[in-house]
Amino acid sequence: MLAPGVAAAEGTSGPALDYAVTCQGCHRADGTGTPGTVPALAGSVGRFLRVPGGRKFLVRVPGVAQAPLDDAALAAVLNWMLERFGRDDVPKGVVPYAAAEVGRLRRRPLTDVEGARRQLLEAIERAKEAAAPER
Ligand code: HEC
Repeated sequence: MLAPGVAAAEGTSGPALDYAVTCQGCHRADGTGTPGTVPALAGSVGRFLRVPGGRKFLVRVPGVAQAPLDDAALAAVLNWMLERFGRDDVPKGVVPYAAAEVGRLRRRPLTDVEGARRQLLEAIERAKEAAAPER
């Protein structure tokens, strides 16, 4: 059951409530996660859309792919999450997640989450270095 405070604060349905019920137990209401165990979404998650493979990764991580939400609700939570926690990092012109896309990707959850995450973070670092002005 929902705590009444949660429903009151977030409305009775929609992605904010779905996040509160399905994701926030691990990632926290403010998206800061738990250092060392659950990665922060705030100030971090938008960067994945800057590198090839990142868009898929965000759907295929187990906590997302296996969430007890239908494809449309899950797509809405992802779009809400990027707006709420990734706004400064999401590149311009990114197309929101669609239900069909999410449905396709979540059927193939990642097997090597750590490895995929490490490779993407390295690519993000390389992209940042490439964008830095010459010294
Ligand atoms: C049981 C705890 C738990 C729940 C519930 C959970 N996650 Fe996660 N999430 C994690 C962990 C741990 C990782 C790191 C990758 C891994 O080991 O699966 C992660 C990774 C992620 C990532 C990739 C970010 C990164 O830096 O690697 C995203 C995006 C994400 N979660 C979003 C969500 C959303 C959205 C929900 C709700 C639909 C959710 N998670 C539910 C624990 C959780």
